[in-house]
Amino acid sequence: MRVLFRVRGSNAIMCGIVGYVGPRPARELLLGGLARLEYRGYDSAGLAIGQNGALRSVRQVGKIADLAAVVDDGSESFPGSYGVGHTRWATHGAPTTPNAHPHFDCTGEVAIVHNGIIENWVELKAWLEGRGHGFASDTDTEVAAHLIEEMSTLPLAQAVAEVLSRCEGALALAVIRRSDPGLVVGGRKGSPLVIGRGSGENFLASDIPAFIAHTRRMMVVPEDRVVEVRSDSVRITDLSGVEQEPEEQDVEWDMEAAEKGGYPTFMLKEIYEQPQAVAETLLGRIGPTGEPMLDGTGLNAEVAKDVDKVFVVACGTSYHAGMMAKYALERWAKIPVEVDLSSEFRYRDPVLNPRSLVIGISQSGETADTLGAVRYARGQGAKVAAVTNVVGSSLAREAHIVLQTRAGPEIGVAASKTFIAQMALLQLLGLHMAIERGVMTTAQASGPVNALRSLPDRLEEVLELSDEMLELANRWRDVRDFFFLGRSVDYPAALEGALKLKELAYVRAEGYAAGEMKHGPIALIEPGVVVFGVATDRRLRSKMFSNLSEMKARGGTVVTLVGEEDVGEAAVTSDLVIPLPEDAALIGAVLAVVPLQLFSYHLATIKGLNVDQPRNLAKTVTVE
Ligand code: F6R
Repeated sequence: MRVLFRVRGSNAIMCGIVGYVGPRPARELLLGGLARLEYRGYDSAGLAIGQNGALRSVRQVGKIADLAAVVDDGSESFPGSYGVGHTRWATHGAPTTPNAHPHFDCTGEVAIVHNGIIENWVELKAWLEGRGHGFASDTDTEVAAHLIEEMSTLPLAQAVAEVLSRCEGALALAVIRRSDPGLVVGGRKGSPLVIGRGSGENFLASDIPAFIAHTRRMMVVPEDRVVEVRSDSVRITDLSGVEQEPEEQDVEWDMEAAEKGGYPTFMLKEIYEQPQAVAETLLGRIGPTGEPMLDGTGLNAEVAKDVDKVFVVACGTSYHAGMMAKYALERWAKIPVEVDLSSEFRYRDPVLNPRSLVIGISQSGETADTLGAVRYARGQGAKVAAVTNVVGSSLAREAHIVLQTRAGPEIGVAASKTFIAQMALLQLLGLHMAIERGVMTTAQASGPVNALRSLPDRLEEVLELSDEMLELANRWRDVRDFFFLGRSVDYPAALEGALKLKELAYVRAEGYAAGEMKHGPIALIEPGVVVFGVATDRRLRSKMFSNLSEMKARGGTVVTLVGEEDVGEAAVTSDLVIPLPEDAALIGAVLAVVPLQLFSYHLATIKGLNVDQPRNLAKTVTVE
């Protein structure tokens, strides 16, 4: 079998794992493999190498070059021809050296690297501490090392299978043990893991670029499998130890394509990673009876009850997520919410007090305008919450409460998966606050919670609209004026559609509240103008359809994005209808953003533009 394009679901979005066994010095292969995973973004890195019954390890905050400098500076000797390496993107615990991987058991017998999140790590840690284990980090991963120590009499593969069974959540593991020379054991449950088959040497990695310079023969480790990798063999078993037939594939990608997971651009890769970004962001945050759980974020019941007003501050796409959050917090938690562009907030003398909660939303966590706004709020005595994709970012450090989206590093300059993850997390926050404040019961929240749970699947469905959006982009490649209209929660979705078209395809696009068009902008509607209408909010659909028919009557070409059951009605006032999966609660507007992202992406690509780095834009805006 040949892999010509992406392997769906194989794109890990956080942390990078590399394992090597063979005749060559492992440190070169591990450092080289980690360097090939740098594109994923990370905050610290480390490796452990085995030789002659000893394990040597080094970990370092910063770049692979910093790690390599320690490995090669002569103060540490790193011979050995098998080992594991890791780049860490912090999820549990700050980006510090003790939190960097590999992690060890109490005896230093086991070294383990991990990609994913162990949801029940707090219970497991308490249990292990009760049995006398001491912990050296704040990570969830370390529990896996101590669990293996508990099973020191078992073969390593069996112990890893046991760890996969006992740990809930998402795990890809690579483990070496002092007493098992020449063996790297991997385990996969929910996070990707691939094997590179060389000649007399083998690799284990979370993504293909880690070994593509050495071999193009690879195997995908299937779900709930353990793999024993030796220099001359690879053995895959299920969790009960039954051997499985491995399926080998040839990778046809070049290095650049491999970094992008087979996609032509990071932007498209990240658009397709949105289901996974939401799944990881929600992982461990919905309890067994459907209750939102935001433990460890600093948002305790007392704070949730005490808040008398929420202010959201953000810029650009994050601001649109903030606008959507307003609907969730007001509708569900009944808290008044004001949403401000960060750059405007502190210059309007907002009235804040210790019961004000100021939520700064920023994927990078480094946006100067948002940092300025939350610092001002802190100075006024308000509580500050950060919604960010980067754990150790300046915004996270300024905040009392840190809500991390787990979208993984976003490399395309224009935000996509971080935005969808922000919206999912902020909706969960709205439901959490509603329950904590006694406005909703867990049972009443179950509808919206289930809608959030199903969001990854619904996102997969809307990604199927890519070909249709490509066709529309081809049809309208020369159109000069686009409008994006919505009402209620569909309004920020429309604004986001317009922003994406401006920044990716350099086309003038106006986002408007549909009801506002008649107060002026309708003068611009004439034949040749394309109007996208987002109409997922069923409470407002008649009003929305009337507004769109006003556009059509003036010669505009109207495209309506609408839930499947409203397609018939929408068709009356539209030239074209894009059906979205039926939704509950506030999910429809989130889904509507995806085809709009794809439309802008395809139009930009047709025009030959650099979608990963649009002109004049920067990923992190650190100036006011
Ligand atoms: C648009 C985009 C920008 C950012 C804005 C805020 O695609 O990426 O509008 O959303 O610069 O950035 P963060 O979220 O890092 O504060």
